[in-house]
Amino acid sequence: MTEQNGTIESHPVHHGEVAETYPPNAEFKAQARVNDPSVYWRAAQDPEGYWADEATNLQWTKPFTEILDWSNPPFAKWFADGELNVSVNCLDRHVAAGLGDRVAIHFEGEPGDARSITYAELTHEVKRAANMLTSLGVTAGDRVALYMPMIPETVISMLAVARLGAAHSVVFGGFSAESLRARIDDAEAELVITADGGYRKSRVSALKPTVDDALALHGGGSTVQKVLVVERTKNDVTMEPGRDLWWHEEITAYDGDHEAQGFPAENPLFILYTSGTTGKPKGILHTSGGYLTQVSTTHRNVFDLKPETDVYWCTADIGWITGHSYVVYGPLANGATQVIYEGTPETPTWGRWWEIIQKYGVSIFYTAPTAIRSFMKIGRQVPEQYDLSSIRVLGSVGEPINPEAWRWYREVIGAGSAPIVDTWWQTETGAMMIAPLPGLTHLKPGSAQAPLPGISATVADDDGNPVSNGQGGLLVVQRPWPAMVRTIWGDDERFKETYWEKFGDRYFAGDGARLDEDGDLWLLGRVDDVMNVSGHRLSTAEIESALIENHAVAESAVVGADDPTTGQAVVAFCVLKESYLTDHVNTEGLDQELRVFVGKQIGAIARPRNVYIVAELPKTRSGKIMRRLLKDIAEGKEIGDTSTLADTMVMSTIQDQVIGKK
Ligand code: PRX
Repeated sequence: MTEQNGTIESHPVHHGEVAETYPPNAEFKAQARVNDPSVYWRAAQDPEGYWADEATNLQWTKPFTEILDWSNPPFAKWFADGELNVSVNCLDRHVAAGLGDRVAIHFEGEPGDARSITYAELTHEVKRAANMLTSLGVTAGDRVALYMPMIPETVISMLAVARLGAAHSVVFGGFSAESLRARIDDAEAELVITADGGYRKSRVSALKPTVDDALALHGGGSTVQKVLVVERTKNDVTMEPGRDLWWHEEITAYDGDHEAQGFPAENPLFILYTSGTTGKPKGILHTSGGYLTQVSTTHRNVFDLKPETDVYWCTADIGWITGHSYVVYGPLANGATQVIYEGTPETPTWGRWWEIIQKYGVSIFYTAPTAIRSFMKIGRQVPEQYDLSSIRVLGSVGEPINPEAWRWYREVIGAGSAPIVDTWWQTETGAMMIAPLPGLTHLKPGSAQAPLPGISATVADDDGNPVSNGQGGLLVVQRPWPAMVRTIWGDDERFKETYWEKFGDRYFAGDGARLDEDGDLWLLGRVDDVMNVSGHRLSTAEIESALIENHAVAESAVVGADDPTTGQAVVAFCVLKESYLTDHVNTEGLDQELRVFVGKQIGAIARPRNVYIVAELPKTRSGKIMRRLLKDIAEGKEIGDTSTLADTMVMSTIQDQVIGKK
């Protein structure tokens, strides 16, 4: 087998792993930002020294003298006596360096409107917004909730909040009023920034009405004093006098002078909620100096960024961690030029993404395996109609990328030669942790391969002992890293229990992993009750609690079943209430009703693919639901060991009920 550029080395196959590796081609390697393999061992000799060097790439108003303070594990402090302003690092310093005319954002709206914003313009807008927020009462230490579409004002708002030393809590625009309210309450946000709506799938997707609904829940009284509304779609919205303000009306009063002040490196930068194993989402807290250091270093090195010439595009929504770290903070701290696209990939046709790449000459492209698999289904003839020759690095994130998707991505989007960096990380890690370096790594399709310089991660058995090559276990991070989660907002105990109880002062990621014979890491998915649907993290417990809120449901069990496109799909099993069954002889259509109900409770991303109404759930003698057996049913597999069930007959009853529905 030969490749267009570069050779494929033959390799022994283990346990279904692929046989080939793809070394960097000589031309790429020669120009790469990182092409000396000694970076790994040098960083390993002195990881703190490595990160301290990286941190000096930022502009500090007060230089740090301390690097890591791990005297009170698991509560880490990085660069704690240093001070900086995150927003200045993403904006003003580039302008001061004479890069004001460089485009920061090529914005592409879904309906086709486009605008390019330079670093000078973005800095000006952020300063004005910071002045506006100050007059609305935002000060250091406050929390501001954002419920926004993918538009430049979202980036401007985040940077304006950061500029004031306040923390943002961005809530993905697909979340329901209930979910939004829970996050506002938990963070005690006093200001919400939203838009009338955004464009999705050629339609207006309203946002402000959901904010209104959220604030009206639970009798109204919330911590929110003001709601600032960006006009985007001009859909009808109701503005509550005294509370709601139009951004475009308010902003006219503010000019672009704003002297930013430095804040301690450990000043909270943002809270981002993510799903855990219980029903209540966790508010992951990230702080300033360490976070900005690691997101900017990894963004430069893993994508081989050349800010003068590259055009970068990460397709993630800003409502997720990938959007925070690799749309906002990493690229802007590096002075990169990037594309931000508002809408969905199939609007108006499946050619939209490729058309955008052609239009802007995108050279670094970062997306999720689920999207690649959707494009594979549509067929290569669509991307092949566009000129994608500007692409030189491809990235993948969110779930393991299957080798078929990897090869298609490289061949069809990367002209058979672009390196693919498969980046493993999490909301909690804040930045990439395990990923190839494209000028050095001999790539293996499906493997994230090696911890990045300065990161020490490995695979351990259940007792915490490292496993040997060729063996599987749990992914563990052995040393603190700069962008790590500092705590779960308002819940230090839960923080300790979730990540640190299992292995002492080492971080338990919740992922299964194995080392191959070469010592490369393969991520195998979650080992807890967290599902990964289209690269989005969902909690089985959260969906189960939503289902039992429904008047028909007595009990429910949710599993993540393997799905060829979305990675996993949500499948729910529900037992109905006696009272409901007495009143309703016919339960036809209830499954659809329950799907929609979950969508309303949590958000459309959580809507189950299937809801099965069953008479009973499989339980052990101690009453624990055996989700593993339900997963077998949902995946159409042979049912595993049922010997610990209280009633071994229950599985055949459930299977009959499910097959009747299929
Ligand atoms: O299971 C891992 C999977 O996504 C989880 C983290 O989800 P979230 O916090 O939403 O962040 C997603 C974007 C960083 C992980 O625990 N995951 C993420 N990237 C990969 C991955 N699994 C395998 N390979 C990856 N590259």
